[in-house]
Amino acid sequence: MKGVILAGGLGTRMRPLTDVTNKHLLPVYDRPMIFYPLQTLVEAGIRDILIVTGGGNAGDFLRLIGNGAAFGLKHVNYTYQKGEGGIAEALRLAEHFADGEKLVVILGDNIVQGTIAPYVEAYKRQPVGAKVLIKKVKDPERFGVVVFKGAKVLAIEEKPKRPKSDYIVTGIYLYDAQVFDIIKTLKPSGRGELEITDVNNAYIRKGEMTCDIFRGWWSDCGTFESLLRASQLVARNHSHR
Ligand code: DAU
Repeated sequence: MKGVILAGGLGTRMRPLTDVTNKHLLPVYDRPMIFYPLQTLVEAGIRDILIVTGGGNAGDFLRLIGNGAAFGLKHVNYTYQKGEGGIAEALRLAEHFADGEKLVVILGDNIVQGTIAPYVEAYKRQPVGAKVLIKKVKDPERFGVVVFKGAKVLAIEEKPKRPKSDYIVTGIYLYDAQVFDIIKTLKPSGRGELEITDVNNAYIRKGEMTCDIFRGWWSDCGTFESLLRASQLVARNHSHR
């Protein structure tokens, strides 16, 4: 399996922190944000990795990560997303890299505690379709919210005003090669983006989506509050070592 880190977009919600740098290069406790999803993939045994970046500081990723030697890698692939047309638009740039293989996709601002390896292993045994990792949170309205009927996942609603559950889809997605055909059918949402939630709903409608609850803590870094929270969670984790 191959891995893709989505670190495009312009980080406009995080100004002025992102005026002169890319959001994914900002510090989370003692390391640049992008190190965490990269480490998460490497730790899960993924060695063939593509970083999708964008904005005015894309070259800084190359300066920082290079060929990934600090992570035990021999090589890292990079590509560039123009503008911020959405997570699914960024993922579309990985089609050539994926070359028909299954993918682990992780958002560049998602920080997790511990390992995703058991979920990756379970997905390797899944014959077709996709898997998402979900998590119970206090502010589901900020995310893609899971709508259940009993234990069955009916749909995912992106940033609903009235969330139908406390479970949200984290930015860790496992996809087969169908994902690129699905992306080609998408239309931009109200916020002008190709939404990853529309991709996930397409898999749900086909009956080819599985969902696992992620066991460790999880945070995004898309707001000042969540960036601070992620740093605090990482710092606390360090002090327990
Ligand atoms: O963190 C999980 C959440 O991420 C999910 O629950 C939501 O369903 C999903 O839509 C997404 O929500 P956000 O609105 O928080 O995503 P955001 O626009 O902040 O983008 C998250 C990351 O995705 C960002 O750090 C880099 C990457 N991205 C985003 C956009 C819009 C790109 O690579 N290109 C883009 O054009």
